[in-house]
Amino acid sequence: MSKATTIAIDGPAASGKSTIGQLLAEKLGYLYLDTGAMYRAVALAALKRGIDIDDEESVSRLAEAIDLEILPVHSDSDGRQYTVMLDGEDVTWQIRSPEVNSVVSHVAAYRKVREAMTRLQRAIGRRGKVVMVGRDIGTVVMPDADLKIYLDASVEERARRRYRELLERGESVRFGEVVDQIRKRDSLDSRRSLAPLRPADDAVIIDTTDMDIEDVLDRALELALDP
Ligand code: DC
Repeated sequence: MSKATTIAIDGPAASGKSTIGQLLAEKLGYLYLDTGAMYRAVALAALKRGIDIDDEESVSRLAEAIDLEILPVHSDSDGRQYTVMLDGEDVTWQIRSPEVNSVVSHVAAYRKVREAMTRLQRAIGRRGKVVMVGRDIGTVVMPDADLKIYLDASVEERARRRYRELLERGESVRFGEVVDQIRKRDSLDSRRSLAPLRPADDAVIIDTTDMDIEDVLDRALELALDP
């Protein structure tokens, strides 16, 4: 088979999806789409408007109405992988706030929110030349993707990675807190009834616990060139 033009990368929080997804897209000259950013933008929009996160109806209506754009970054930047525009405002960093972290899994469990986001993601997927990263890309969004990769790593290793990332961003957190958050997110993402986190039957599972980024990227690239 020739080179994969639609690539799905799924996996739990801090498994390296976004790092590998972006590097792989760059190498191949493809669009990189981090679908987690879309759920985060919906959560942020609800917080900004004072909508009760438990009010499924209102959050769903909001998800269908917001103007959301994920734009590639071309020039020098502040370390961002892409720019997220929500109703005309650059919210690239706001979607990473602790407030958003604590509610996004709830928002991502709502059926109509998922339908609205899945619709947008599929439209982008249909154009091809895309590396799409998330939890349900290989199972629900692009079940016909040319290549499906599922990245995994132990909870401790993922917490270490996330902890380092947070420290680099100047945030003060305790390691134990990060472990707890990751466990909680894993449980919410994999136990929900709609599009739960799981590898597609035909996904290539890569356990990155003892691998460095270059090794994972090499493996992903090898698979992309000969899926
Ligand atoms: O990858 P992330 O941490 O930015 O994801 C944020 C939340 O969105 C997380 O709770 C999982 C959820 N998500 C999802 O349900 N489906 C996706 N395709 C991507 C993310």
